[in-house]
Amino acid sequence: MAKRILLTGGTGYIGSHTAVELIHQGYEVIIVDDLSNSEHRTIESIEKITGTKPEFHQFDLRNSPSLEKLFKDNKFDGIIHFAAKKAVGESVEKPLLYYDVNLNSMLNLLKLMELHKVSNLVFSSSCTVYGQPSQLPVTEDTPFALAESPYGHTKQIGEDILNHTTRTNGQLQALSLRYFNPVGAHPSALIGELPVGVPANLVPFITQTAAGLRSELKVYGNDYNTPDGTAIRDYIHVVDLAKAHVRAIERMLNHEQKKSYEYFNIGTGKGSSVLEVIQAFEKINHTKVPYEVVDRRAGDIVRIYADTTRANHELNWKAQLNLDDMMKSAWKWQKTLIS
Ligand code: NAD
Ligand code: WQD
Repeated sequence: MAKRILLTGGTGYIGSHTAVELIHQGYEVIIVDDLSNSEHRTIESIEKITGTKPEFHQFDLRNSPSLEKLFKDNKFDGIIHFAAKKAVGESVEKPLLYYDVNLNSMLNLLKLMELHKVSNLVFSSSCTVYGQPSQLPVTEDTPFALAESPYGHTKQIGEDILNHTTRTNGQLQALSLRYFNPVGAHPSALIGELPVGVPANLVPFITQTAAGLRSELKVYGNDYNTPDGTAIRDYIHVVDLAKAHVRAIERMLNHEQKKSYEYFNIGTGKGSSVLEVIQAFEKINHTKVPYEVVDRRAGDIVRIYADTTRANHELNWKAQLNLDDMMKSAWKWQKTLIS
């Protein structure tokens, strides 16, 4: 029988791509999402890509009775917990909202996992837990930095909760994936990121500018100590990232975990500057992105990219897609949004 995997936040950007990859690998996917940052039509898009419509439940994970009913009515072999609020700037404005949504959702989930003896949890963590590391590439052994934002703090606390809970709950295994900068979209362009309002992230801003929805991109600083002066990140194609989740679930179901709580960097291991991203986009898509260089953005780190050795060896996962693939798919998706 197919293994049943619950995806919280499964209609979101990374969750929907993961749903597709799990279904391709023969898993049964059940999604819970309150649609606060995604749309119901994503369920139909997942069906169009895979030929299978995932079971969908719409509610807020903080709503304990709904979550209790879901656990009473279903047996899950594993859970991937994507659901969270993720806008760094908004979290600074509304810290209580971020602590409430991100932490109470996770606590509700963990309490029910314990009650119903569900063992396997994959958690969406982030490279933001490291801040600006003193050594690059950054390994998983790098200690957490003081959190720059309430959002980043919720990821650090989330990981701490998993670390402590797996020590006392003998049957719970957890695995955090620390995503670097997920970009791009499914090659079908049926699913992708749905930015709300003015995008804070680089790639959606580039695609919206190329589409004429924004007059120009602001490049935040070209006076950093980097080869071209702009900041460096490890951009990872969302389809590669989705596949890392499949490997994480497999690792747990096959009892390959070496410790009850594990954590992995998920990136390409390669850093790209803001200008390199713009140039890659322009070249592969034959489309101009008007930009101007402005002051540095407060709180930005200069450069970060992942040491992915642990994920390569232990998870048996490696990113396959390059910056061109990311830019091509991001543009194809953007064009579906404006047509
Ligand atoms: P997203 O907003 O597209 O997806 C999150 C989904 O969770 C949305 O569909 C939203 O409606 C849902 N949701 C939010 N709060 C909920 C709640 N209380 N109950 C039920 N559903 C709820 O975001 P994403 O980019 O797909 O991110 C997924 C996860 O990955 C998040 O935990 C995010 O913090 C983490 N992450 C994202 C990035 C990134 O750059 N996108 C980087 C690192 C980590
Ligand atoms: C990338 C680079 C900007 C927009 C954020 C979160 C992090 C993680 C990933 C969730 C930076 C520059 C951007 C623009 C620009 N998310 N930039 N003009 O800051 O690495 O990380 O998303 O966990 O927690 O903080 O990503 O896409 O915002 O920026 O020049 O209009 O692009 O300065 O150097 P970031 P980003």
